[in-house]
Amino acid sequence: MEPFKIKATESIPFTSRAEREAALKSAGYNLFSVPSSKITIDLLTDSGTSAMSDRQWAALMIGDESYAGSRNYFRLEETVRRISGYKHVIPLHQGRVAENLLFSNCVRPGDHVPNNIHFDTTKANIEHNGGQAIDCVIDAAYDPQADIPFKGDMDLEKLDRVLADVGRDRIPLVLLTITNNSGGGQPVSLANATEVSDWCKRHGIPFFYDACRFAENAYFCKVRSGLDGDIPTIARRFFDLADGCTMSAKKDGLVNMGGFVALNDDALAEKVTNMLILIEGFPTYGGLAGRDLEAMAQGLEEVLDERYLAHRIGQVRDFGQALRDAGVPILVPVGGHAVYLDARRFLPHIAQDQFPAQALTCALYLEGGVRAVEIGGLMFGAGGNWPELELVRLAVPRRVYTSSHLDYVVEIAATLFEKRDSIRGLQITYEAPVLRHFTAQLKPVE
Ligand code: F0G
Repeated sequence: MEPFKIKATESIPFTSRAEREAALKSAGYNLFSVPSSKITIDLLTDSGTSAMSDRQWAALMIGDESYAGSRNYFRLEETVRRISGYKHVIPLHQGRVAENLLFSNCVRPGDHVPNNIHFDTTKANIEHNGGQAIDCVIDAAYDPQADIPFKGDMDLEKLDRVLADVGRDRIPLVLLTITNNSGGGQPVSLANATEVSDWCKRHGIPFFYDACRFAENAYFCKVRSGLDGDIPTIARRFFDLADGCTMSAKKDGLVNMGGFVALNDDALAEKVTNMLILIEGFPTYGGLAGRDLEAMAQGLEEVLDERYLAHRIGQVRDFGQALRDAGVPILVPVGGHAVYLDARRFLPHIAQDQFPAQALTCALYLEGGVRAVEIGGLMFGAGGNWPELELVRLAVPRRVYTSSHLDYVVEIAATLFEKRDSIRGLQITYEAPVLRHFTAQLKPVE
């Protein structure tokens, strides 16, 4: 059961099918353009959508809005140092800023940056600096039906291949995303992280985590590989293997806005900090209010509570199991923050260039006002480089929806599966040059 009770409520909108049809049409069949007032259950993302606890709301009242040296910064710094062990803690307003600051100080044109699978903003920020983002996850990650416990693991042979192809000097850092969002929210094992760390040390290459969901990853390690110790201890064993991390605290920081870069290298920290001042703000607030820093520090403490994580991961697992029981094809095993529908198996009659995952996303909305996000050809297939997976991610915000909300989503998905043959593909009518999925406009194919 939920290890919390509910102190404040927020009404959810209900709409008619006709209203949803009109909303979808005027949004160009892109759910990012549908106003939230027309969404009944919003599973677009788990990012920035968490419910804060009473203690986090209370933390807002002790915000110290001093321009420099806010006491809330020192609490955040102490908290991140205690959890991660990293020396420098640089606050900023969200994960992609961390990526921008880090990569613009270490990625040069022609560089190659390996990761298990790069998240879209990570890839875009590397490319923006002239680098190439290389995915080196194990092959099983691309098989939605391969039910293995650590599907986010890096393939060391693929790392060797990148090294052989481009040479050590063209690899400014290696990243590891925990959990691996774009591959289904799948965890990385401590053994694999250790191998990656050893590999990096052997070749003198810095190693960083994209640590957005580090606590969920640590919990998976505890239950799936029986690691000893409490969650903070396991998380720390991961952090100890690397030189630093980027963090969007909008996920496992349990806040609506916030993030940081944490790292050990003094010279790199200085460069990142100087650029922070240019684009985000003074180093003790980094684009956030003092109260936000305090809520983030509090959230980072709460997310490591094993009872919270057992409910969190359990709720997502049960949601996935209920979909499976209803015959709906999903990616297995169920990951940490979301259930991913396998659009290829759901809609085998829609060719990849007609965006099956996006068509399914639209159909879910039309059927029941449920908002999900496409992770397939629209997100990653620009220029005709079609991705292997066509997924629809149903991301579960933290501490927001109860099981009966998710039961409703299962009913909608199951109803849709019954009439899947009636769902049609889509074609693009407008696309932006980068990150096209956010603003693309589409229409049903004739
Ligand atoms: N890295 C990963 C693995 C992410 O999942 C995200 C965001 C980011 C970096 C960027 O962080 O949004 O704070 O700038 N993921 C959200 C999602 C948007 O819906 O998965 P950000």
